[in-house]
Amino acid sequence: MSSYIIKGGNKLEGTVKISGAKNSALPVIAATILNAGKTTLYNVPNIKDTQMMYEILKILGAKIEKKNNKVIIDTSKIDRFEIPDELMHKMRSSVILAGAMIGKYHKATFTYPGGCDIGSRPIDLHLKAFEKLGIKITQNYGEIYCTCEKIIGEKIDLDFPSVGATENTILASVLQEGTTTITNAAQEPEIEDLANFLNKMGAKIKGAGTNKIEIEGVKKLKEISYNIMPDRIETGTFLCLAGATGGNIELQNVNPIHVTPVIAKLEEAGCYIEKEKNKIKIQAPKKLKAIDIKTMPYPGFPTDMQSVFGAMLTTAKGTSMIVENIFENRYKYTQDLNKMGAKITIEGKTAVIRGVRKLYGATVKASDLRGGAALVVAGIMAKGITVVENIDYILRGYENFEKKLREIGANIETSKAL
Ligand code: UD1
Repeated sequence: MSSYIIKGGNKLEGTVKISGAKNSALPVIAATILNAGKTTLYNVPNIKDTQMMYEILKILGAKIEKKNNKVIIDTSKIDRFEIPDELMHKMRSSVILAGAMIGKYHKATFTYPGGCDIGSRPIDLHLKAFEKLGIKITQNYGEIYCTCEKIIGEKIDLDFPSVGATENTILASVLQEGTTTITNAAQEPEIEDLANFLNKMGAKIKGAGTNKIEIEGVKKLKEISYNIMPDRIETGTFLCLAGATGGNIELQNVNPIHVTPVIAKLEEAGCYIEKEKNKIKIQAPKKLKAIDIKTMPYPGFPTDMQSVFGAMLTTAKGTSMIVENIFENRYKYTQDLNKMGAKITIEGKTAVIRGVRKLYGATVKASDLRGGAALVVAGIMAKGITVVENIDYILRGYENFEKKLREIGANIETSKAL
């Protein structure tokens, strides 16, 4: 795998155009299966995760035409209903294809996605919701077969507001008979984007973005074009990069409302932030103040931002505390930050970050997407050279990361693995 070589110490200044949201694009791409026709999507990020989703769709029989951030997906010839084991393991979120396949064809075969570097990530809530919808699930050596004659609307109360389980339930319910009501639904903006997309196609979904979602089944959908919403995690990452370097950055193509808790925390740390309709400007002080963070389901502080904040706070004045409530194993990056001179201790769900004067360059290794981004932030803050290995993880979720960083003054380049 390739590495980033970063010469740290530069203050980041300038303008960044934020890409389309990975976590919205993935379920929307899966949802194109439901209308068995052509869908045109705009503002789709060109990242490893969307490429992997296209690979799976092609194996199932779809045709994909791609030009920059525009993608035309033709799902009219889908004739396979198994997600290959190998790809399922490579990309956990491919489980979202199951809801779309079952919703359209009443059958899907896939394997357990398995654990990953941020936790065990079970899919019990997805399967429980499928069963409630009348889908028969049989399991054999880790392979899961789902079939049903038809799907009839039901009341589904999720034990936890899981993003993936909410999306899979919506996808399975769009073409059903009757109405499904999801309570304790996840309220993330990406779910609203998926529902807006499906409603434009002709679905009848109400309440997405709240904790109660109602899906009235429709008979068929139509061909549409749709613009994917901006990525709120990429937005937050660049805001933190300004925060971490005493920088001054303008972000374009963003939705400031989606990053409300992130902005609140950056302001608490001493940053000055101006919001416009599709823009955010941030001016950071020379030294940040320590803050406390607790990750929560939306509209709380996002777990996906925790690591990047963790890196940014290593040199803040005072002691910061992070409590990670969503995933059980999301602090791996802190070991690498400590190698760079940070003072972080972990006790269960809590990370205590004692602010130090400086970080120092070191060779570190990304072990997941957002943890990898945190190491890049640290490398840009640090004195000297940092090598971030295993950047494939980072490329799964950040479009043109290196280019965007260089444009605002970071000294970063990619070195290919020998
Ligand atoms: C999505 C996002 C991910 C983000 C996460 C939480 C995508 C592609 N990924 O992941 O970036 O970090 O939301 O905001 O959109 N859980 C169960 N059983 C289940 C499902 C989930 O116990 O069946 C648990 C998980 O282990 C985790 C918590 O619920 O502890 C939240 O997971 P979930 O909201 O489902 O996250 P994802 O959809 O996997």
